[in-house]
Parts: sequence; structure tokens; C-alpha cells
Amino acid sequence: MSPQPQAAVGAPLSRVDGRLKVTGKALYAAEHDVDGVVHAVIVDSGIGRGRITSIDTRAALAHPGVLRVISHLNAPKLPYRDNSGSNNPPGRRLRVFQDDRVLFYGQPVAVVVATTLQAAQHGAGLVEVRYDAEPSSTDLHEAEADEPTRYARGDAEAGLRSAAVRMDLTYRTARNHHNPMEPHATIARWNGHRLTVWDKTQWVVGTQTELAAVFGIQTQAVRVISPFVGGAFGSGLRCWPHVVVAAVAARETARPVKLVLSRKQMYFGTGFRPSYEYRLRLGSDRRGRLTGMVHEMDAETSSYEKFTESILAPGQMLYSMPNVSQAYRTVPLDVNTPLWMRGPGFATASFVIESAMDELAHKLGIDPIELRRRNEPAQDESKKLPFSTRRLRECYTVGAHEFGWRRRSSRPRSRREGDWLIGMGMAAGVYDTARFAAQARVRLNADGTAVAEAAASDMGPGTYTSQTQVAADALGLTMRTVTFRLGDSLFPPTPPHGGSMTMASVGSAVLDGCNQVRRQAIKLAVEDRDSPLYGADADVVVVRSGRMHVEDDPARGETYQQLLARNNRSHLEALGSFAGPSGPERHSFYAYNATFAEVAVDATLGLVRVRRMLGVYDAGRIISPKLAHSQAIGGIVGGIGTALLEHTVTDHRDGRIVNANLADYLVPVNADVPDIKTIYLDGEDSEADPLGVKGLGEVVHVGVAPAIANAVFNATGRRIRELPITAEALL
Ligand code: MOS
Repeated sequence: MSPQPQAAVGAPLSRVDGRLKVTGKALYAAEHDVDGVVHAVIVDSGIGRGRITSIDTRAALAHPGVLRVISHLNAPKLPYRDNSGSNNPPGRRLRVFQDDRVLFYGQPVAVVVATTLQAAQHGAGLVEVRYDAEPSSTDLHEAEADEPTRYARGDAEAGLRSAAVRMDLTYRTARNHHNPMEPHATIARWNGHRLTVWDKTQWVVGTQTELAAVFGIQTQAVRVISPFVGGAFGSGLRCWPHVVVAAVAARETARPVKLVLSRKQMYFGTGFRPSYEYRLRLGSDRRGRLTGMVHEMDAETSSYEKFTESILAPGQMLYSMPNVSQAYRTVPLDVNTPLWMRGPGFATASFVIESAMDELAHKLGIDPIELRRRNEPAQDESKKLPFSTRRLRECYTVGAHEFGWRRRSSRPRSRREGDWLIGMGMAAGVYDTARFAAQARVRLNADGTAVAEAAASDMGPGTYTSQTQVAADALGLTMRTVTFRLGDSLFPPTPPHGGSMTMASVGSAVLDGCNQVRRQAIKLAVEDRDSPLYGADADVVVVRSGRMHVEDDPARGETYQQLLARNNRSHLEALGSFAGPSGPERHSFYAYNATFAEVAVDATLGLVRVRRMLGVYDAGRIISPKLAHSQAIGGIVGGIGTALLEHTVTDHRDGRIVNANLADYLVPVNADVPDIKTIYLDGEDSEADPLGVKGLGEVVHVGVAPAIANAVFNATGRRIRELPITAEALL
């Protein structure tokens, strides 16, 4: 069969929605123009745990414009009945205004609905809530942990005993908040028993399912619309209480209601990357071959939900080692539930493991890259499966060459430029190649244009563009004649837009739908007596710029438009699907990177400046090189934040977050971001999915923090085992 020519995939194209974005025409959740909309502002709990004893709403209700104040005293009892068969029914997380319990600081305790935003804000300030406060527990290091999740192979303790070199290291990582530019926002409108929400979400299908369960209505009675998401990094992967609050407020007032979280509320109203205490004991022989590792990690969760993430995988599969033991304990605290944040689990584990490998390399006097090479596994030792593709060695080689790793001094604190100590560090990164079932509808119109639709989201990676590239090539159309639509639960269902699974899952469904439509058109042509293609072998017909022709005989062909017009067809259509992995996997699927950092540390002030960064990625086929580079820049900038700046600080006396704003919660700004270079190894992973992609969004973030921490050690001789690495820690 003649392969369909590829023109768009692999080309460094700009975003198809770029113009919409820079002209303000891309509508984000709060910007949709809904007739008769009124405004809601949440009143948050001012205690970390306890009971509400009274709510005085008189002053608020007397304020001009205020329509209603809703709290547990007058809110409807909601059914929380799951009609969907979902395995993820909404738990306590979405039980808003159902009782007088306060479970965390900042929990919604009331909502004020008013005709203007200003009246709602003022009204919220006038609501007087009294509490019976109880001591709250928010300190990971003080609270009791749940029973651990365990993993073991071999005998880790024996492996440590037999080791020539042993290390016992404890690392701590700070809580991080996603802090997307766009705040979470919802507009909710009821029409009888049907609910429409315009929402910031990374999963319209998930939000639809959860809202249906909360209100005990059919899934199809809820429509979720989310065409643009202004960054999320994971915060939009679940439905949050404010979405239910908006829907309750809309039902109670019989008006469409808009609710936008304030920047402060973003720290209590959505999830966060949980903080960890992670003790790692490891042993190796004299040549650096690992003999055993014992991982014990404690992580925050809420008192009402047990949140877990993939913290265990890297310790099981990144390096070859017969003896591993892991214990992962969640610690229930009086906080809201954490959530996945970029590179979830893997980023935290990689900070620990990759810092420890650097420590081991230093102790043994072995180059850090050489140490990693000596522990490169031949297969995934946790699953006893071959890797589909694993080109980490090549990442090291290419990265070391490009970054000038030779110039690194193995002796810490040996390179100085004026006041600045200079150092280089590297780390390996890994992230799971997740794929799930997805569908996409594809329609080829008589005018030669095509539309593909899937319920997917685009939080910034460029889904509109990359899916259009896949569709354009598979249909044999130009980028301009294909439109990809997403962000509506009316479109065919897709998995969450997270975990780096969109291109593999949605992209494969789009590819399938477009292949079906192209084949329908070719079949129609070769069976049509009036077509120049009549009688041709369908397998040798290809399509270029909307014109079908015999591959070896370009003159013999016709356009889609000619074919459809002559056959009186308004369109051709297909529902594409991707089944996802079914049955036991025969390979182990991961994307990899080698990340390199050069830092300068002010010898007297402890200030760390990242000077250069390089990421080399084994991420399978790259659909959209320009956007892939953009993804990597974003992941690296996020990693600089985790490494050096980001730290959600809780006042353990009452559970208040003391830096719940963008002035005190530090994220990298332009001046913090150095020269960044990224390299994607050519190639594809044909085992992973029909497109051969392995996912990008997470792996570009994993490994950044340890590369920086290792560079700081190389510069200063100081090993900081706590993130973020601050000037105070280095003094
Ligand atoms: Mo990413 S944490 O999967 O949105």
C-alpha cells in the first residue's frame, strides 16, 4: 500500500490558534458571553478545622445587588448519585454546603450571588461566619501516616549489607501550586434539568461525569464547554468544589452564574503538588553498581481523600538493581486534596534518585554520567518486560557533547568567576507513556474542507495545531483546509488532557478517523465510472492537497470536491477510535531525557542563577517540533521554579497558606530563565501507538530540579536535600 505523504507532521509550524490568542478572541472560561449572567463570590473558611456555629447574612443581603447568600443552612441537599458507572465517584471533595464541618482552611462555607461582581465581592466581605475551631493538623512531619503501599523485589536490606558503599539520605520537597495564568472559573446555566457549564478543565468528560453524579442527573444532561485553557499544569484534571458551587448558585437563583476564583482562592480551591519527605538508603559496589535501594516516602493528602501519584515507578525501573524495597505512606492532613502537577510523582522521585546518584558518583569518584551508564538496565526489571524504546544512553552522549560536559570539573567549588562559583550538573528523567481509549469524529465536506472533533482540551501544548497536522496529512489536505475542534462534551469522548497522553490517545483516534474518511473517498472514486480513478487499485491512490491520484501517475486523479459534487454527497464522515492498550502489555513504555544545567552561585550571598540548560529527549516521534520546543521550555522553566523558588508555606497554627499570592509565592520570571536548548532524538516508538509518540508534557519537566541541585553541589560543594534550594540554605 502506498503510504500517505506527510507534509504537516514534523514541520515546525506555528500555532493555528495563535492569532485568536494574541487578539483576545480565544475565549477562556470566564469570558463566554452568557445572557443574563450574575456573579458569585465564595466565602472561605477562616479556620483550618472545626464547625460552623452561625452565619449572619443580614448585612450581605441588605447590600444593593446581592441576590442570595447560600450556605449549608439553606443549600439543597444534593444526591451525589453516580449514574455513570464511573469508577471515580465524587467524594467528599465536591460535598459543598452539605453540613457544618470545616475540613481545611479556605473551604467554601458560603457563596454570595449578586448582579455585579463588585456587589458579590462586597457582599462576601459582609457575611459573618462564626466557628467552633478545633486544632488543625497540617504538618507532614508531625502527623500520623496511613498504612504504606509497598513494593519489593529481591532483598533490599541484604543488598545494602553487601554493599561496599552505603548512603542514608533524607530529602524534602515543598508543596507547589500550579499557578496557571488563567484562574479557575466556571459559568453555570440550568435549563430545566439540563446543566451547561463553561469551565476551565483539562477533562470535559470527567467534569461532566462528576457534575452528573453530584446532581443525580444523567451524564448526557450535563454539557461542559472548555475551548481554551490558560495553563493548568494538572490543576484542571479534576472537578473542584467551586464548579459545584456555581451550579448550585445557578439553580437556586434561576440565573446563569459566573464564578471566578481569586488568586488567593486558587491555593485552597484546587489541588497542589504534595510535599514529601523521602528517605533513600542505597548501596553500591566499588565500581558503582547498585546493590540495593530502600525508598521510604511520606506525602501529604487530605483527611477526606487518599491522593496518590506515581512516585514509585522511577525507583523500580530507572536503574538496574536486584534489590529494591519501597514504602509509600500518605499522611492525612487538614488540607484540601492534592493533585497531579507537571511530571506528577516522577518529578519528585527523580529529584531524590538523581540527587542520590550524584552523591554516589561523587563519593566513588566516578563521573555522574558514567555511573548512570553502569546501572543501565537491559529490561524493565519491575515488569520483566523489554522497553519499547529506551535511548537514554544516546541522550547522555548527545547531551554531554552539546553541553560541553568535558569542561565540568569533578572537584566541587573549583571554578570561580569573580564572586560567582560555577558548576555543572545533570540528571536523567523518565515519564510513563500513557495511552487511553479515545474517539474523534471526522467529516470531509463537499467544499474540500474537513473538520475533526474530539472532547479533548488544550491547556497550552498546542493540541489544536498538532491534531490538525495529523488530520491534514491523513486526509491529504493542507493545514488551512482542516479545522480541529475540542473542548466540548458533545464531541466524542477522550481521556484527561494530562499525563502526556493526548497526542498518543486523541491523535491516534484522529488518525484513524481521517484514514477511514480518506479510504471512503478513494473507494468511492475507484468504483465511480465517471472518475479518472475508476478501476484503479485503491491501495496505490494517495491524496495531496485535496486531490486523489495514483501514486506513480499523478495525472490520473481528481479532487475530493469533484468527487463529492459528482456523487451528490454533502460530506463523508467517520468516527475514529483508538482502543488504548488492551490486555497485558508486552513492552514497558517510557519517555526519557538527560537534562543538563550550569549554575552560578554568589559565594557570599548564596544567590543561585541558572546560566544554561539543555534537555535531550527520547520522546518518540515529534509531531510538531516548534511546539515541542515550546513544551520543553515550559517544562524547564517549571523545573527552575521547583528547584529554586516555588514553596507553598502553611502556618501550622491554623492551616492558613501565608503566601497565597503571586508576589510571595515565587515563580520564575524572565530574569530567572537562562539560555535553554532542547534536542529531540529522531525516531518513533511503533509499539506505543499508531503515531509512534511517547508524550512530551511531563518528561520535559522531570529531571530539571535534580540537574540544578547537582550543579549547585558542583559549584559550591554544598548538598542541599530540600527543595526549593534557597539562598538561606546555601549561606
Ligand atoms: Mo499534567 S500533571 O498530567 O496536567
